[in-house]
Amino acid sequence: MDWGMKNRMARIIQPKTGKALMLAVDHGYFLGPTSGLEDLGKTVAPLLPYTDSLMLTRGALRQCINAATNTPIVLRVSGGNSVLEEDLSDEDLTVDIEDAIRLNASAITMSIYVGSPHQHQTIVNLAKAVDWGQKFGIPVLAVTAVGKEMARDERYLSLACRIAAETGAHMVKTYYCEDFSRLVKKVPIPVVVAGGKKIPEKEAFELTFKSIREGAVGVDMGRNIFQAESPVAMIQAVRSIVHENHSVKKALELYHDLLSKKN
Ligand code: R5P
Repeated sequence: MDWGMKNRMARIIQPKTGKALMLAVDHGYFLGPTSGLEDLGKTVAPLLPYTDSLMLTRGALRQCINAATNTPIVLRVSGGNSVLEEDLSDEDLTVDIEDAIRLNASAITMSIYVGSPHQHQTIVNLAKAVDWGQKFGIPVLAVTAVGKEMARDERYLSLACRIAAETGAHMVKTYYCEDFSRLVKKVPIPVVVAGGKKIPEKEAFELTFKSIREGAVGVDMGRNIFQAESPVAMIQAVRSIVHENHSVKKALELYHDLLSKKN
């Protein structure tokens, strides 16, 4: 890896712990004004001190995030679909690498839809994004999007993650599944776990704990943070698992402690 690539990777995966806490707020690219992100800037601002990086679209970045922030940006560069379509896999690259550089992105990210009607175009687009990344020293985070019919089991997710790695992605984001450690062994790049839809806090801590214990480099969490009763308390508790090896019990205690101080 060249210096620029290594330096950007070190902004996402913290050298001190070898782990990464990413905050995902890119949902609007196909979901529109997602619950909790109606006023994206207001929701995200108090969370920035606690996340290692922020994953979002260029429109949200330009309109809603203070340019004086030091938080590394993971810029979504794919889109072209909406929740109103039955087939979500029809995505293309929607941001040029020049604009990603202009926005000082520390990494770019895009979805691949393995096994879906548009898998070919999304994987070929990943290859194009990797070529951009190699040229300018910008890491690419591939997201293994699951089409509506896709099982989220180890077999499928390993297939999708391995294809992302073989296509040249520098990191991959996927879902936690049973036998997750087997997936990690088969994927020669850092794996981060998506939070998924909102679940009770304790379950979100369990998801984070198990992901880290079974080999994930971190979590890239969205709804389970910004839809929590206190997003600021939630992100600190998730962070304590990722970077301080807190148990689920300790994270839960921290969450309730922070929550009671807030109220
Ligand atoms: C998926 O394609 C997007 O990157 C989502 O924004 C991300 O996975 C959402 O995070 P979460 O599932 O934790 O809300």
